[in-house]
Amino acid sequence: MDGTINKRPVYDQEGFEEAERQRKIIEELKTDLHMPKKFFLATMGCQMNARDSEKLKGILHQIGSEEVPEDEADLVIYNTCCVRENAEQKVFGRLGALKSLKRKNPNLKIVLCGCMMQENFVIEKIRKAYPEVDLILGTYNLYRFPSLLQSMLASGENRGDASSKMIIDIWKEQKEIVEDLPSIRKFPFKASVNIMYGCDNFCTYCIVPYVRGRERSRKPQNIIAEIEALAQTGVKEIQLLGQNVNSYGKGLDEPITFAQLLRMVCRVEGIERVRFMTSHPKDLSDELIDVMAEEKKICPQFHLPLQSGSDRLLKAMNRHYTQERYLDIVRKLKAKVPDVSITTDIIVGFPTETREDFLETLKVVREVRYDGAFTFIYSPRVGTPAASMPQVDPQEAKKNFSELLKVLEEIGGENHAAYQDSVVEVLAEEKSKNDASMLSGRSAQGLLVHFTAPEEMIGKICRVSVQETTPYYLIGALESEVDA
Ligand code: 5AD
Ligand code: SF4
Repeated sequence: MDGTINKRPVYDQEGFEEAERQRKIIEELKTDLHMPKKFFLATMGCQMNARDSEKLKGILHQIGSEEVPEDEADLVIYNTCCVRENAEQKVFGRLGALKSLKRKNPNLKIVLCGCMMQENFVIEKIRKAYPEVDLILGTYNLYRFPSLLQSMLASGENRGDASSKMIIDIWKEQKEIVEDLPSIRKFPFKASVNIMYGCDNFCTYCIVPYVRGRERSRKPQNIIAEIEALAQTGVKEIQLLGQNVNSYGKGLDEPITFAQLLRMVCRVEGIERVRFMTSHPKDLSDELIDVMAEEKKICPQFHLPLQSGSDRLLKAMNRHYTQERYLDIVRKLKAKVPDVSITTDIIVGFPTETREDFLETLKVVREVRYDGAFTFIYSPRVGTPAASMPQVDPQEAKKNFSELLKVLEEIGGENHAAYQDSVVEVLAEEKSKNDASMLSGRSAQGLLVHFTAPEEMIGKICRVSVQETTPYYLIGALESEVDA
C-alpha cells in the first residue's frame, strides 16, 4: 500500500440500510409535535464518548432541537463513563437532582447512554431507584438514537399523559458498524475520527472491553472518505481515535497496519496536522515510529500509557510489556523524533502494589520525563479480575499519588521552561477563558498555549513566541500566521 489509495467508501449492506432507516426517522421527528425542542447533553469520560456526543448532537440539531443549559431543557441526556467508580457516583447524584426538575416539568425527558449503561447492576439500580428515566441505550446501538427517541415519545403518548414507561435497549455486542449519520463537531477546523471500536486487551483493572466489546476496525476507505469530506469543509487537524490504535487493521478483509493508514491520512489534501490516541506499548511497531519521523503532518506527540513501572504489576495488569521494553520504545521514539512530547496514563494503588513497585513507576517517570500525565488512583470495577485481588491501604495509595503528582509537576515545569523565548506553531482554537484579549490553542506537541492575538486568528495555525511558561501551559504572543 503506497498511501495513495482512495477508493469510494464501502458500506456493509446491513449498516447502510440501517443508516437509511434512521435518516428517515430523523425526517419524521422533525415534524413530531412531541419532540423536545431544547436539549442538554452532558458528556463524561474519554474521547470516545466525546465523539459519540458529537453524533448525538448532530442528530438532535438535524431534528431541530436546540442546545440549552440543563435547567431550561426538556430533554436531558447523560453520556456516561464507568472507568472509575466516582464517575458512576456522580451520575447517580445528578439523577437524584433531576427528580426535582422532573417534578417541576413533567414533560422533561431523561435519556442515559454510554459505557455505564452496559453494566447490569447499573440498569437494575436505575430501574428500581430512578423511575423518572425515560430511555436507556448502550454503546453498541447509539446510531439507533432516532428510532429510540421515536419509541420514547410514542410510549408517552399511548398512555395519554406526559409520563412514559422506561425504554431500555442494551445490546451485548455490536451488530453492524453504521457509518454516515449526521454529527456536529465542536470546532470547524479540527475533528476526531474513529478508526476502530472496542478493545481486546483485557487489562485486569479495566472495564472497557466489557462495555465497548471486541475490537473492530473501520475500513480504511471509509475513514479516508470521512477525512476528505472534513478537509473540504475546512478541517485542518485530525485526531484518529481508538482504544488501541496500534492494532488497527486486524480482522479486516484486506490487511493494513496503523502506520499504513497514517500515511494515507497524511496524503489527504487540506489536512495539515494528524494526531492519534491511544497507543498500547505492546503493539507499537518500528514501522510506526518511522512513519512518525518521515511524515511531517504527524504531530510530534505520543500518548503512551505506562500504568505502572513495576514488572510484577505490569504482569498482574496483563499489559504484556516490561519496564525495559517500555523504556526501549521511548528511547527509539526520542532518537527518531527528537522534538516528540510524550504523555501517559498511570495508575497508583493497583492491588498488591508495594512502595518498591511505586518507586519503579517513579523511576520510569524520571527517565521518560513526561510532558503530561493522566493519573488515577486504582478503582475496583465489578467483574474485572483485579477487583478480586488483594487491595492496598488507601492511605498509602493517596500518599504515593501525591508524590507522583509532585514529581510530574516538577518535570512538566522543567520541560516547559525549555520553550522560553522559542517560537511554537499553535492552531488557535478559541478565546482564552480567563483573558478576552488572548486566544488558546495547542502546539504541534499538544501543549496548551495562551497567546495575545486578534480573534480573526481562530482556526489558523499561528507562530507564537513564548514569553512565560508554567508546568501546565505556555504564554506568548502572535508573531505571524503559518498558512499566510
Ligand atoms: N482504576 C483506575 N484507573 C483506571 N483506568 C482504567 N481503568 C481503571 C481503574 N479501574 C485508567 C487507565 C487507562 C485510563 C483511560 O484510565 O490508566 O489508561
Ligand atoms: Fe482498558 Fe487496557 Fe483496553 Fe486500554 S488497552 S481500554 S486500559 S483494557
